[in-house]
Amino acid sequence: MNEKKLSFETISVRGYSGGDKVTGSISYPIYQSSTFKHPELNKSTGYDYSRTNNPTREEVERTLSLLENGIGAVAFSTGVAAISACIHLFKPNDHIIISEDLYGGTFRLFKDIYSIFGIKASFVDTSNLNGIKESINENTKAIFIETPSNPLMRVSDIKEISTICKVSNLILIVDNTFLTPYLQRPLSLGADIVIHSGTKFLGGHNDVLAGFVVTNNDTILSKIRLIQNSIGATLSSFDSWLILRGIKTLHIRVEKAQENAIIIAKYLESNPNIEKVYYVGLDNHIGYNINSKQATGYGSMISFRVKDKKLIPYILKNLKVISFAESLGGVESLITYPFTQTHSEIPKELRDKLGVDEKLLRLSVGIENIKDLLDDLKRVLED
Ligand SMILES: Cc1ncc(COP(=O)(O)O)c(C=O)c1O
Repeated sequence: MNEKKLSFETISVRGYSGGDKVTGSISYPIYQSSTFKHPELNKSTGYDYSRTNNPTREEVERTLSLLENGIGAVAFSTGVAAISACIHLFKPNDHIIISEDLYGGTFRLFKDIYSIFGIKASFVDTSNLNGIKESINENTKAIFIETPSNPLMRVSDIKEISTICKVSNLILIVDNTFLTPYLQRPLSLGADIVIHSGTKFLGGHNDVLAGFVVTNNDTILSKIRLIQNSIGATLSSFDSWLILRGIKTLHIRVEKAQENAIIIAKYLESNPNIEKVYYVGLDNHIGYNINSKQATGYGSMISFRVKDKKLIPYILKNLKVISFAESLGGVESLITYPFTQTHSEIPKELRDKLGVDEKLLRLSVGIENIKDLLDDLKRVLED
């Protein structure tokens, strides 16, 4: 059967293969083997050594590739390992334009690790197309965006940026962790590479670390596969299986979390202790129109700024249903303090300029009962 003809939800549930063809196992098997036996000299089953290829990892790669409209996906042990692999596509003096508001670990990777190898990075507001154009120089090779961005939910126009990339022969890389292919498919909007922290919505249960690179370009795909095998930050077979299992319910989890998030964002907006709410599903959000054009939803990530920073320790200590923890995208609601957690590695001047300050909190809304979530927030914001 041509899996491409099936709908998103059906592919998510069945995976690429629809189970194991040999035994009929509905759940795709975990091939927990580091190596594979050869029938004879110069013959292989297609699998030699699990760093290079493993059937369970291949299944999750093929499944995600179908969901993202790619020609192939490559699975890594974490999201930053996937980003790191992409940076290995470039050489000393190459210049990359990067969204200035983005996950702190991505910032650290460019600033503290790959700068040593001569990769140049400019952090710009990629929601401003003119700013992007002005930052392109003769060494620019790629644009790397998060949309919506972490933590301020800035929206960048994927189609417009891909047009800029085509004119200047640049690669467009989109971190699609926040919206997932269920809501946004950057490759269909002109991007060349999609990145995921599979740790988040794809896994969905806060129990696995994973990362993916998906592409629709043959040359990029074979280079990323070489980088994966050579550097070795591959996804284990068990973790591949956990992601396959998570993806089965992706659409249902994303829908339910988004339904909760819309209600919570509106509640936060109405609360007098809150100064500002950043959620792309609010029609007063600056990126609302562009997001609505390029995605079929808004996701479940909300940031908000309290009026008085003294409230922060009280909120973080007294929430009971929502856990104070780093990460996002799981069934459990989590609240994060970007200032000291996910974005602490970003220099203070840039954090101040962006507004990633001591009053900002980020909420990853889960799929719990909405009344319990609202009661939890009301208890710390109204008492
Ligand atoms: C948008 C985004 N991309 C990438 C990463 C890195 O993923 P991982 O923690 O799986 O390495 C994160 C982590 O929070 C993230 O939020």
